[in-house]
Amino acid sequence: MKIAIVGSGYVGLVTGACLAESGNNVVCIDHNDEKIAGLRSGIVPFHEPLLDAVVLRESRLGNLKFTTNLGEGVHLADIIFLALGTPTGIDGYPDIDSLLQCVDDLSITLQHDCLVVVKSTVPPGTCEAIQTRFDARPAHPSGRCAITVASNPEFLAEGSAVTDFRMPARIVLGASNEIDARILKDLYMPFDPDGTRLIEMDLRSAEFSKYACNAMLAARISMINELANIAERMDADIGSACQVLKSDPRIGPRYLEPGAGYGGSCLPKDLRALIRMASDKGEPASMLHSIEQVNRRQVTLIYHAIEKYFWGCFQGRCVAVWGLAFKAGTDDIREAPSLTLIQALLEAGAQVRAYDPIAEPAVKTSLVHSELVLAGSAEQACVNADVLVVMTEWEEFMTPDFKWLASTLRSPAIFDTRDLYRGKDLNAMGLRHYRPGRIFATRPGGKPLLTGAPLLTAEVLKPPKSISRKPPISAY
Ligand SMILES: NC(=O)c1ccc[n+]([C@@H]2O[C@H](COP(=O)([O-])OP(=O)(O)OC[C@H]3O[C@@H](n4cnc5c(N)ncnc54)[C@H](O)[C@@H]3O)[C@@H](O)[C@H]2O)c1
Repeated sequence: MKIAIVGSGYVGLVTGACLAESGNNVVCIDHNDEKIAGLRSGIVPFHEPLLDAVVLRESRLGNLKFTTNLGEGVHLADIIFLALGTPTGIDGYPDIDSLLQCVDDLSITLQHDCLVVVKSTVPPGTCEAIQTRFDARPAHPSGRCAITVASNPEFLAEGSAVTDFRMPARIVLGASNEIDARILKDLYMPFDPDGTRLIEMDLRSAEFSKYACNAMLAARISMINELANIAERMDADIGSACQVLKSDPRIGPRYLEPGAGYGGSCLPKDLRALIRMASDKGEPASMLHSIEQVNRRQVTLIYHAIEKYFWGCFQGRCVAVWGLAFKAGTDDIREAPSLTLIQALLEAGAQVRAYDPIAEPAVKTSLVHSELVLAGSAEQACVNADVLVVMTEWEEFMTPDFKWLASTLRSPAIFDTRDLYRGKDLNAMGLRHYRPGRIFATRPGGKPLLTGAPLLTAEVLKPPKSISRKPPISAY
């Protein structure tokens, strides 16, 4: 089939590359000249495992092409996917202006029958609104062509996007008629070898299912974070409780890691959108509000743990941060908790030495501060730092040289928000270890010592005489 994809970002490019790989003729369109020029010379503009190889191979084979010209890209396409960004707009409502502008441009351009498929995450009713726009377009001198609209929300996760697209857990198809549904089923046949993954429904339900899914994922993350915070207060270990939770088939094993809260380009904005849409319909969405509230608090707890460790004063302190991307496997820093933390540390007067194996270029332009150093390596980030905070679960952070860290960090402690290390290993080297909701260590006297900040504050680090004990004025 001849496919056009408008929007060549994380979703559009992966979709284009994987559909080219499955035997289609694909043109990826984007209004960003630099992005398209790069792609034409084989440069993928963001980090996504496996994607470079697929893009290169399919481009060489002539199955995958790139253009900035919408008319040229959609010429005679059987299916046109819309994979444009839908960021948070006014009052949390998704901003679908660029999507609608693209629809208006297509209305003028298209002169042949085709199926327009919305892959972007959009409010229920958007596909119907787009259909109405197409239906209202003036007839072309050569006659009116039939354009129908379907919904096919995307569920891939950054960091495993190619694998997710090749072997999806489910493919959601929202169509208004049998013919459109058939076209999409045929397209996705190679991705549903056992015939169990396609889920068909009406347009609005397909659109809604994406928000429902992200709300559920966000709920699990906030729930485990809240449980971790309570466990910490009650001298219980969330790691042990997680083992029990994960073994329950009704609960399941995934998305149960306490940490600094969710971030990224989808969960925060889609939750905001759902809250706004619910409010418009008179639904209080109380749980969704709580999920957001717990999530906002989570990174501040990490901040406060560090603040307490330094007796409330960041002046003269340097914090090393490992990991800027909102999760491992991607260079996406959109709404990354690491950036919120760094911003707060800088505002409080700390110096920050940050390192990320992939995401540093993105941060270079978005976060500029005289006291922020982007280090060239994990080790360099720790030189002259007091403590280390691990924010992203990159492979290279999994087995650091604890002995070296203990001798290098000036006030040796690791704030391990991803639960990567064993408390015993760190303690053996003389490093303090903070993990949300974890008992980790034993006091010299043999009594268990909670990792929570208050105990660390009291026992570990006496404030230097020159430093005031007054809490800093900060965003928190
Ligand atoms: N990123 C994810 O993990 C993910 C997963 C599932 C769903 N989604 C949804 O998919 C949609 C796209 O997300 P993304 O992360 O790929 O966004 P993105 O910002 O990475 O990509 C969007 C692309 O569209 C281009 N663009 C914008 N307006 C354009 C126009 N008028 N013409 C041509 N190109 C245009 C931009 O230059 C950009 O390259 C969003 O609705 C998002 O919520 C994202």
